[in-house]
Amino acid sequence: MSGTKVGKPTVVVVFNQKGGIGKTTTSVNLAVCLAALGRKVILVDLDAQSNATTSVGLSSPAATGAYQLLRGEVDVAHACRPTPYPNLRLVAGSDDLSWADVEIAVKPDPQYVLERALSTTPDDVDVVVIDCPPAFGILSVNASVAADVVILPVVPSPMALDGLHKAWWNIQRVRTHFNRDLDTMGILFTMTEESDLMHRLTEAIMASFGGRVLPVMIPRDMKVIEAAARDLPLVVLDPETPAAVAYQRLAEVVLTRLIGKGELTLPATSRDDVAELLRQWRKPRPDSGQPGALPPVRESPPMEAGPAPSPNWDEDLTNTVDDIPMVSGLGWKIGVAVLLVALGSVLGFAFGRWMYLGV
Ligand SMILES: Nc1ncnc2c1ncn2[C@@H]1O[C@H](COP(=O)(O)OP(=O)(O)OP(=O)(O)O)[C@@H](O)[C@H]1O
Ligand SMILES: [Mg+2]
Repeated sequence: MSGTKVGKPTVVVVFNQKGGIGKTTTSVNLAVCLAALGRKVILVDLDAQSNATTSVGLSSPAATGAYQLLRGEVDVAHACRPTPYPNLRLVAGSDDLSWADVEIAVKPDPQYVLERALSTTPDDVDVVVIDCPPAFGILSVNASVAADVVILPVVPSPMALDGLHKAWWNIQRVRTHFNRDLDTMGILFTMTEESDLMHRLTEAIMASFGGRVLPVMIPRDMKVIEAAARDLPLVVLDPETPAAVAYQRLAEVVLTRLIGKGELTLPATSRDDVAELLRQWRKPRPDSGQPGALPPVRESPPMEAGPAPSPNWDEDLTNTVDDIPMVSGLGWKIGVAVLLVALGSVLGFAFGRWMYLGV
């Protein structure tokens, strides 16, 4: 199915300054589901941790990605890489993004850097989904300034309400100062569980935010952890697991709201079609061995391995220090210095005797 787009792409930002509450899981699975619903989607990984990048099976660092896009070195088309999933492209994250805060801050109108960069988005793109880092720094400000809608994931917990008020307030400040059209689409409960305490906590948040809470909750689901370990989006690993079903529902809700706002047109394909498509996308990877096999579980983070420390690292360190030009050969330099001091003393003594005693 192909959708008809109205005007520029819709930018959906997933933000909360609190860490570990499901921003990346939400961004990735929402982006994949929207792609399965026939939309042309770009996922932007704005986090130096690059978890969204690895979650769609790509590696970081990328030659070009979000960092180069923010620096204005490439346009969106060149910052994008294809993903294993049709309709979905990725602007990858990288370690360099840790520096972007400092570098962007000195540019003119630093809060508009991403919005300017996204103005180069190719015409065929319907939706841009942005995964934010866990801080309200210049990157998150840029994302919310560029956003049409913001989704605020939150794990119902005793501390959640306070954090949510802060995140909400930050978004409202962006709206007041920089982006009057920004729509806070809603608060998304993530990692929910069936318990009395959880019900009380969700009710407390609903009492404060009412209609701003999205009508979908993402349940805590161990398959999410497995999906992350296999570098697969959850909805591709197992479209029927409860959290994956909830993410498909979230994509429908988001799409319906965007259609309602006149930002996108055409209804989505049926839920069954989407689940079937997601199943087909679980193709074997070239590195996975047999046909139909899942990608292997990753035991360690996908970092470039540095050299292993030598067992004699302390000796190595001494040798390394000796190799520094100022330090190597220090022994003879000290000897010469002592000799010069001694010679100076003898000459000084002789000069003193000649001056005062005349001998
Ligand atoms: N519904 C869920 N059920 C179980 N585990 C989940 C669920 N959602 C996310 N997780 C796990 O919780 C952890 C944090 O999730 P995620 O990385 O999406 O959060 P984040 O807000 O992006 O974190 P950060 O702030 O570090 O970027 C991950 O280990 C993830 O696999
Ligand atoms: Mg994250």
